[in-house]
Amino acid sequence: MHPIDLIRKTRDRQPLTDAEIHFLVAGAAAQSIPAEQLAAWLMAVRLNGLTLDEIRSLTLAMRDSGVRFDPHPLGKTAVDKHSTGGVGDKTSFLVAPIAAACGLHVPMISGRALGHTGGTLDKLESVPGFQTALTLDQLAAALRNAGAAIVSQTPDLVPADRVLYALRDRTATVESPALICASILSKKLAAGLDALVLDVKTGSGAFLRDPAEAEYLAALLVSTANAAGTRAIALLTDMSQPLGSAAGNWIELAEAHNLLRNQRSRLTEDLRSLSLHLAAWMLHLGGVADSPASGYSRAEAALANGSALDRFLVMIAAQGGDPAVFDHPQAFHRPAVTHSLIASRSGRITAQDTTALGWAVQRLGAGREVADQAVDPHAGIHFHFRTGDLIAQGQPLATLYASSSVQLAEAIPIVESALTGSDLTGSESATASSSIAPAPIVQQIIDAARASAILNS
Ligand code: URA
Repeated sequence: MHPIDLIRKTRDRQPLTDAEIHFLVAGAAAQSIPAEQLAAWLMAVRLNGLTLDEIRSLTLAMRDSGVRFDPHPLGKTAVDKHSTGGVGDKTSFLVAPIAAACGLHVPMISGRALGHTGGTLDKLESVPGFQTALTLDQLAAALRNAGAAIVSQTPDLVPADRVLYALRDRTATVESPALICASILSKKLAAGLDALVLDVKTGSGAFLRDPAEAEYLAALLVSTANAAGTRAIALLTDMSQPLGSAAGNWIELAEAHNLLRNQRSRLTEDLRSLSLHLAAWMLHLGGVADSPASGYSRAEAALANGSALDRFLVMIAAQGGDPAVFDHPQAFHRPAVTHSLIASRSGRITAQDTTALGWAVQRLGAGREVADQAVDPHAGIHFHFRTGDLIAQGQPLATLYASSSVQLAEAIPIVESALTGSDLTGSESATASSSIAPAPIVQQIIDAARASAILNS
């Protein structure tokens, strides 16, 4: 087999065989196929797409390109949740301990900040001592101990994705549903999951803002995971505003911890509700709840009775973190500079450019400008409003935390302009009668039947 023949086939929309896809993936993992040929093939895929059979073959070949984790000797059903990324998305810190408290194992392989979205690993590493780079044996030990572990990809798990993802990043080929599906699922399937809940975001802060595109990706993920033997469901969820009130690193963990302690607030009800819906499906697909509704009740009980909080703190300690920082979360929050953004006019928040808000959070120091840069655990933003709120002149809109005043100066106008479309302009629109119904947090549930209807339409 020669890579050039396979590039030509995909370029000319002729499907590749399973053996041909395995050849390309093995060549990527071993770095025996030159980068320019892999990049040309990726661009052919980006432009022409792949058939469902090809996507399935690509996912499985990538899954099998390195070592795999087998959670089954530990004796429990293994489930996970994957989100396609958003701003303020801290549901992992709630759903993983809830599922563990209900008797499941959650071996969660997570990522770092990407584009305008925050990284689960970066947030966890704001806890002193917390280790995310565990070996597979250490992952098994952490699961035995806490029931849930949130770790980074090991060097020998799905090496093909490491090579292909880096090439996609440099060749404008990230935005391909086929490649995104294979990249996400190869890593999740290599963790040996029995069931997977996919949180596919839509709206102004999502990677795929167009609901039809998000729906197609969700269907592709569900159908491919099911075909690979992992029970899967996707929830299409709202990302038209940050999830909860905090976006950053430490402040997101502290917000999740508040909900685990049953400290509720109007600004975090969307986060609580989404976490419970995701956990409900994890419990149902994991076989410990006979319906999503009973899964929801069990998840709520795990929050109310403190068992999820207990699993969370055990998980922090099992991965080397110091759980004592959660005794006084506010005292631990030590940003170098803080700024309170005040509304200069009265009006109603009618919409938010959530991607811009995510970039502001990254610029404050929560994310990186170049690979391997350290992030600031204390950088971020607390938002004091929800879309639809009436704001009075002089009211605090947001509190920004940064590593330096230079970063603060860069982020403030981004936040201001992300809200300028929000009609903060004066009295005529600032009436209760012009209220806005909030978008439902879960917009659609895509199961196997719905996925097949979408893919065949
Ligand atoms: N996350 C991944 O792991 N891969 C993609 O291609 C996109 C998001």
